Amino acid sequence: MKKIAIIALAALSTNGFAQKKKAVVSPAIHSEIVNQPVQSYQNNEYNTKRKSFVDALLAKMTLDEKIGQLNLPSAGDFTTGQAQSSDIGKKIEQGLVGGLFNIKGAEKIRAVQKVAVEKSRLKIPLIFGMDVIHGYETTFPIPLGLAASWDMNLVQQSARIAAREAASDGINWTFSPMVDISREPRWGRVSEGAGEDPYLGSQIARAMVYGYQGKNLADKNTILACVKHFALYGAPEGGLDYNTVDMSHTRMFNEYFAPYKAAVDAGVASVMASFNEVDGIPATGNKWLMDDVLRKKWGFNGFIVTDYTGINEMIDHGMGDLQHVSALAMNAGIDMDMVGEGFLKTLKQSVSEGKVSEAQITQAARRILEAKYDLGLFEDPYRYGSANDAQKEVFNASNRAVARNVAAQSMVLLKNDKNILPLKQKGTIALIGPLVDNSVNMAGTWSVATKHGSAVTLLKGLQESVGKNVKILTAKGANVEDNKVLEDVYAAHGKVVDRDSREPSLMIKEALNVAEQADVVVLAIGESAEMSGESSSRANIDIPASQVRLLNELKKTGKPIVVVLLTGRPLTLTNIKDTSEAIINAWFPGTEAGYAVADILFGKVNPSGKLPMTFPRSVGQIPIYYNRKNTGRPLDAALTDKCEYQRFRSNYMDECNTPLYPFGYGLSYTKFEYSELTVSKTNPTGNQSIQASVNVKNTGNYDGAEVVQLYIRDLVGSNTRPIKELKGFQKIFLKKGESKQVSFNITPDDLKFYDNNLKYDWEAGDFDIMIGTSSADVKTARINWSK
Ligand code: BGC
Repeated sequence: MKKIAIIALAALSTNGFAQKKKAVVSPAIHSEIVNQPVQSYQNNEYNTKRKSFVDALLAKMTLDEKIGQLNLPSAGDFTTGQAQSSDIGKKIEQGLVGGLFNIKGAEKIRAVQKVAVEKSRLKIPLIFGMDVIHGYETTFPIPLGLAASWDMNLVQQSARIAAREAASDGINWTFSPMVDISREPRWGRVSEGAGEDPYLGSQIARAMVYGYQGKNLADKNTILACVKHFALYGAPEGGLDYNTVDMSHTRMFNEYFAPYKAAVDAGVASVMASFNEVDGIPATGNKWLMDDVLRKKWGFNGFIVTDYTGINEMIDHGMGDLQHVSALAMNAGIDMDMVGEGFLKTLKQSVSEGKVSEAQITQAARRILEAKYDLGLFEDPYRYGSANDAQKEVFNASNRAVARNVAAQSMVLLKNDKNILPLKQKGTIALIGPLVDNSVNMAGTWSVATKHGSAVTLLKGLQESVGKNVKILTAKGANVEDNKVLEDVYAAHGKVVDRDSREPSLMIKEALNVAEQADVVVLAIGESAEMSGESSSRANIDIPASQVRLLNELKKTGKPIVVVLLTGRPLTLTNIKDTSEAIINAWFPGTEAGYAVADILFGKVNPSGKLPMTFPRSVGQIPIYYNRKNTGRPLDAALTDKCEYQRFRSNYMDECNTPLYPFGYGLSYTKFEYSELTVSKTNPTGNQSIQASVNVKNTGNYDGAEVVQLYIRDLVGSNTRPIKELKGFQKIFLKKGESKQVSFNITPDDLKFYDNNLKYDWEAGDFDIMIGTSSADVKTARINWSK
């Protein structure tokens, strides 16, 4: 085991106040933070060498072998022993497999690689993929939580550690980052992305690609990233997974495309096509999307893989039979077919019938071979991972310490009446909730490599974090959901919820008894892990009734209640908001869950997370997002704030227009005061730049970190423009009493947008420059920028 390295984080990141003393980061990882794409793609000499190697190989390949490179089966329950005898094993021998995913363990992977490089005619090594989404065995908070840290070094660091662990265990390709912008909390996959904002999403896309791919893809601890799901997967109608998407091109380019493009600009090695249709054609068969936009407009030169059976699913989309849809995908620019074997089964015939050209297939095979070359697999097919490497790297103490820190940094303090938090380390705490002693749910959704049961429960974390002066009593209080059938649906992929068979009233009675004996109740409620994630759409995003009932009963004891929210999505918290003194949104914190929650509750870390996605008051407000357009009949700002109805204005009769918690919102145990905003010039011209500044002062009683956010509004345009757009942020650390000047440099690039003709430029005129603590709480200065 590596020793835990303890260093001051000042240069790496500016976080909660306990950071100073207890920031933990491996120095090796610290030195790996990168700020530019991997070099190999940009270097002519390298490209020439790679081209001649791949040309020579392609010249030896039959059409079948080329098509074989495009085939990506899932290993499923395929095990090494079967490597020779199974269907997949035979295909590997025949050169009909390009890569494999869903296989875990360095030795297993080595044995399969051996089949490829010893038994197949051309000895071409395989690539091994996996959904390493928010960590490998060391599991970080779900990506939506990670985004809430607004700390790009931490985000990059988490991806770096994930890559190191995965690579040491034989994996060289991750199906991450998922960067689908979403304004749809009903859609369960918001948990896997960075939320609603194009700018924040783009920063995170870049940080993750850099983290996975490092400085050089051939290093044995770097892996190929795969940005997904291209494109627009986060905008399904009704929040229903896989559903139809239909949006204007200006919205695509201005809002939804930005993070995919940022990943491409960061040198991402692969792209995954999404399941949904775009402009009436499924993304997997959409030539405009893959070829015109991704390859030609953005210059992407890596390979494109389908999502799981994405080609076959075009049959149900109504695009034709397997041969037709496979040809459609190939002609659209798809290089690799995940699981469905449409390419394997039909492309040869399509070539003979003139429906697909062999040149197109050669080109796709070339891209797969180039990726293998970049990984260094032709030099050493076994370069990734060994039992020895994995033993040193996977789930080691240093990685886990970073995960604990990242989890604490991701948490968002939603309310804290009378400064009930942080809790004092004395007296009796009642820790109540259906998942307080449940480990498997703490990792959250899409944590395929995590070891079930290795995450620290809330109970264990609290018990170990408090001294002898604190007594912790515990009770379940409720099941996640009263209805067993529904609860079973929520407990997918082995993430069991330990259903209690007692009557709800008996469980509540036990909880009340525990609460009566305590000074404070810490109540963990919300979702179980698989209530969000793939195929986990919810029509109602309240906390389930069983848990709300528990909260309401506990309230009657008069004891102060701190809610620890477990969730993979924004929930409607309207019916619980006023029932508790404090709410800390912990998302799903990962393997160090219990410790990280304790760090926040007891103030070892001062919360500094900010919401990357709007929390609605009710489901009927969806889609609700901060960077909306004005209407021609906007509601007066004063009436909006008071939630007063006005006829013939754009407002609900039965609901406020404002969200419950806006984008960018999050409290701290301390207070930050913002001065008025100053700008260095109020009338800039042409390509000048200006500085917009505020002074931020920590006027509270704790040291702490604050995310200072810059928004801009373009007041008049040739196209309607959003009421504000995030254009920058800085996470600063201020000691108690300290103040800092925070300045943003603004150039015309920050004013650019795609107009109706998809021309990307800025327009002269008035702009509001806004800096503040959330999207709804800003200081403003108006400027006029002329050309
Ligand atoms: C998901 C992808 C994932 C793939 C492979 C699909 O169902 O949509 O995000 O990468 O499976 O596991």
